[in-house]
Amino acid sequence: MMNSQPVRFTRRTFFRGAAVLFAGAFLSACGTTPRGYHGPRRALPIPPLADAVREGSGVTFRLDAGAVDAAILPDATTPVWGFNGAHLGPTLRVRRGEEVTLQVHNGLSEMTTIHWHGMKLPAEMDGGPHQPIEPGETWAPRFTVDQPAATLWYHPHPHGLTGLHAYRGLAGLFYVDDALSDGLNLPGEYGVDDIPVILMDHKFHEDGTLDDIEVPDLGLKGDVATVNGITNAGFTATTRRVRLRLLDASTMRFFNLRFSDGRTFHVVASDSGLLPEPVPVEHLYLSPGERTEIVVDLAPEEEIMLEAAAFPENLEVPEDEYALDFGLQDRFELLQLTGPPEGTAVPGALPAQLAPVPELDVTDAVEREFRLNTFEINGELMDMTRVDVTIDHDRPEVWTVVNENSDWIHNFHIHNAFFHVLSVAGTQAPIWTQGPKDTVALPPGTTVRLAVSFGQYPDPEWAYMYHCHMLFHEDQGMMGQFVMVEPGREADLGEVYGHTGH
Ligand code: C2O
Ligand code: CU
Ligand code: CU
Repeated sequence: MMNSQPVRFTRRTFFRGAAVLFAGAFLSACGTTPRGYHGPRRALPIPPLADAVREGSGVTFRLDAGAVDAAILPDATTPVWGFNGAHLGPTLRVRRGEEVTLQVHNGLSEMTTIHWHGMKLPAEMDGGPHQPIEPGETWAPRFTVDQPAATLWYHPHPHGLTGLHAYRGLAGLFYVDDALSDGLNLPGEYGVDDIPVILMDHKFHEDGTLDDIEVPDLGLKGDVATVNGITNAGFTATTRRVRLRLLDASTMRFFNLRFSDGRTFHVVASDSGLLPEPVPVEHLYLSPGERTEIVVDLAPEEEIMLEAAAFPENLEVPEDEYALDFGLQDRFELLQLTGPPEGTAVPGALPAQLAPVPELDVTDAVEREFRLNTFEINGELMDMTRVDVTIDHDRPEVWTVVNENSDWIHNFHIHNAFFHVLSVAGTQAPIWTQGPKDTVALPPGTTVRLAVSFGQYPDPEWAYMYHCHMLFHEDQGMMGQFVMVEPGREADLGEVYGHTGH
């Protein structure tokens, strides 16, 4: 891990030639087939819905983390991690108001944690770095779902190892439904017209095993993109309208998504829930941890490709021999969509209204500032024993987040919260800011002002995290802790796991 004296650099030499070769990951003019694209297209794997045991308003799921062999590439076996015997995890699906119990068993040979990204819940149940699950142990958090319908996800969070554990495949989706989302005329049949799309990237050795050596400053940024755990995936629709629930589950990669014919599609939901109305777009931008739901219409039997395109202006990261290659010019074919047979019913108009915007009153709100620089926030690296922010009231706050680097991208995620992006300054680069969110991208020099609404579970003994969700940055220390307490109380973390550091 990082020593306590962070190296200050804003410029570093990097061999640009590597970036030019990466561009070959897209079926390109050079005529070579990129890794993972040999042989016929494979059907998109749909993660199974997790078995739920329901009793009254209670629902219990079991997740078993373990090592498993996966067929990420068509011509090799890759030892990875996952849940319940598969690479990645099953999709958990709950309703607002349900009391959820998760039985998370660690069948790995090392400690991990599992965090419910986007869920508002007591800090003790959050699955952050303070809730380790030792090998062979079962952790059973319990909480009541009290938030609108949304596409959330779960992933590991052991401090210093989050990137590696997520990269190996400990990730899954976590859907919340509610009465409003039930009643909307949007595609909603899981795996049929409502399709989970987990985007990741990997690096492979020649024999198909994962290259999981962290590269200085870039961590585990991959050069092969996968969807739901495979390369070269295709989905043949049976309807003319499909909803894709897109998650950037990569550790470091930003995606500029589009369809091969440049068609317009509609965004219907952001990280933390539905938008007020569908928004037509031709590109969609995701950074690690972000989710977006889109609706796309298909003509009978047509074939279109969901692609990752190069970022315009390189997301304002300088392109010279000193700049790091964040992969912003890489292009990938991600998922081929094939339209349904001729004669399939034409869908009606999309609903004009989706969900009302939750009002956040930020008059006289508490304001805080978070300055991101290299691996630090406000000049400090993460310390599990330090409380950075104590919130002793139940109102929304205004958080200003600044990316002080001129040549590094970051993003920012807050646990137990959703926010509205009030404003963006310092950049013209495209980022997604609409709707209720829990993670926002920060190109170089960007300042965002966020109206943040927190779940109300005051408890002085347990901390929530905020951090850059580029997981190598987070692991290097780009994370802080906040504790929510009753008015007039102080935070007191008590015993802290891994107290002596790494
Ligand atoms: Cu995706 Cu701290 O979380
Ligand atoms: Cu989170
Ligand atoms: Cu960062």
